[in-house]
Order: sequence, then structure tokens, then C-alpha cells
Amino acid sequence: MNILFYTIDPDPPRWVEVLQQALPGATIATYPDGAGMQADYAVCWKPPADFFNGQQRIRAVFNVAAGVDFILAHPALQQGYLRDVPISRLGDAGMAAQMEEYVLAAALRWQRKLDTYATQQCNGVWKMLGPKKRDRVTVGVLGLGVLGTHVAQGMHRFGYRAAGWSRSARLVDGVDCHHGAQGLRDFLAGTDVLVCLLPLTEDTRGILNRTNLTQLPQGAHVVNIGRGAHLVEADLLALLDAGHLGGATLDVFPEEPLPATSALWAHPRVLITPHVSASTLREESMLQIAEKIRAFERGAALTDLVDRQRGY
Ligand code: NAP
Ligand code: GLV
Repeated sequence: MNILFYTIDPDPPRWVEVLQQALPGATIATYPDGAGMQADYAVCWKPPADFFNGQQRIRAVFNVAAGVDFILAHPALQQGYLRDVPISRLGDAGMAAQMEEYVLAAALRWQRKLDTYATQQCNGVWKMLGPKKRDRVTVGVLGLGVLGTHVAQGMHRFGYRAAGWSRSARLVDGVDCHHGAQGLRDFLAGTDVLVCLLPLTEDTRGILNRTNLTQLPQGAHVVNIGRGAHLVEADLLALLDAGHLGGATLDVFPEEPLPATSALWAHPRVLITPHVSASTLREESMLQIAEKIRAFERGAALTDLVDRQRGY
């Protein structure tokens, strides 16, 4: 079995080593040096435009990430036999727990007014602000998939009110579930801390826009950990400056790294992190992919399969 591997990580051999240990019989080549090999499987994250060139027998593509917007946009996967090759994305692989931590940190910062105290400190102000109990705070998660469900349930376990929104109807213990366009209105009206954990598709691009964000209660906080293009930055900035939104925690941006010229960098009520809310964990992701390949070789169906029509 031949595997062609690519990652944007500066140290690909460390990833290949884990994969090779889990699949001792496999021949694993790393792009670009091994690109001449005919591969049965591609294991990749943000592969370059010519990554699939000359490949004639790929049976499955393993996306080393949860989000599939990059891989689905790869031109080679729109043509010839690769148009029908199954794509499997990571299913959690240690990311859900990281997302839960990140959202909990953001929710606590908002609930305990730590950003406001930080501003007060800059101005030498000693002023107690009123308490807010956690059972009066609703954390609403856009996207109730692998990651969103885990985050929403984590917020519920912590004692927040948890709500979620998905495309189809879902039932999640402890989470007030909404779906579809109609459900979005009720969901937004009751959400204090809005978390975007949607895949980026034509339906979800720009969903964090003025129309939707104005439906949040006054002073709400926005956490974007989906993709940068979910957020209309100008709308967010306008609503922050108008005082409708209390703040934002942003981990993803249309252009990464976030350009130095972005107004977000210096905004006093915006916290920026460099796409780290959930890192792809080497061990967990390589072992998960190795297990999927073994199962596929035994004739089992691929799991965490991407629906190309749906876009996630
Ligand atoms: P997933 O399992 O595919 O879940 C996607 C969820 O979004 C599902 O609940 C789906 O609804 C919902 N959804 C999709 N389109 C919708 C629409 N038009 N309207 C309403 N709901 C819609 O994805 P996941 O594994 O949880 O990952 C979610 C996203 O997180 C990824 O796509 C990626 O962009 C992002 N991510 C970011 C980082 C980071 O470090 N910042 C790390 C990992 C992932 P249904 O349940 O009805 O299908
Ligand atoms: C990271 O952004 C991922 O989609 O896994």
C-alpha cells in the first residue's frame, strides 16, 4: 500500500513516523520528493496545486483537519476520477476537548467581566462591577457537529445554559437545540456568548453579519472558531463601536496570518489568537487515519466521510 503525505507543518517526518509505526507495511512518501510514486491513499493538509498531478489510482483522501473547505476547493479533486474519490476528515482526534477549553475560557472572561477589569486596570480604576451567575448565561453554539456538540454539552456541564443551531433537527442532552432559518432567530435572541463552529460553505459564509449579530442581546460576546469568512469584520467592528456587542474572541481570519493593517489588532474589545482554538494533534490524527485505512482495506466503509454536495 502506497501513501502520499503532505502537511504545512515544517517537520513532516515527525508525522510520517507516527503513521509509519501504525502502518508498518505501507510505503509512505512525502510530497514533493515522493510525488512520482503512484499512491493508493493521500494524507494531506492544504496540499499544493500540483499535489495530485500524475496520480492515477488514489482510492481515498484523508484530510488532516476537521474543516474541509480547503480540500474541497482543490482543483484536482473536481476532475477525472478524483471527482468521485471519497474524502474523510478528522473526527475529533483530540480537537473537541481543546475547543471546549477555549470556549470555556472566553465565556468565563465575559461572565466574570475580565476584559472590563483589564481596561479598568489600564486606567488605574478600582471599581467593582456586579456579579453575573453562570446559570443566567447562555452559550449558543452555531453548528452541532462533532465539535459543536461536545462544546455545547461541556458548557451545560459547567453550569451555563447551552443552546445550539444546526441545519437539520438535533436532540442533544442538556442543549436547547434549534435548526434552520426559523430556528436561528430564537437561538440568537437568547444567546449571550455566540460561538461559531460551522463548516465554511456557501450557506454559512458571512453568517456572522450585521443582520444576525444585531439579534443578539445587548453586550453579547462573539467567538469565531469556525473559519474567518464566516465573519463580516466591518459589521462586527461597527456593532462593537456602537456598543451593541460587548466583545469578540477571534481565532480564524480570511487571511492568515491576520494582516498587520487589520483594525482588529488594536481593538480594545477584541482578543485575537492565531488559529489555535483546536490544533491538529500529531499522534491522535495519524493514529485515527491509520485505523481508517486499515478498516477500509478490510472492506469497511470510510468514516467521517465528507458529503461533497453539502460541502462538509
Ligand atoms: P461537523 O461535524 O461537520 O459539523 C458541522 C455542523 O454544522 C453540523 O451540525 C451541521 O448541521 C452544521 N451546519 C452545516 N451547515 C449548516 C447550515 N447551513 N445551517 C446550519 N447548520 C449547519 O464539523 P466539526 O467537526 O464539528 O467542525 C466544525 C468546523 O470547525 C470545521 O468545519 C472547521 O471549519 C472548524 N474548525 C476550526 C478549528 C480551529 O482551530 N479554529 C479546528 C477544527 C475545526 P447538521 O448537524 O444538520 O449536519
Ligand atoms: C482546523 O482549522 C481544522 O479544520 O481542523
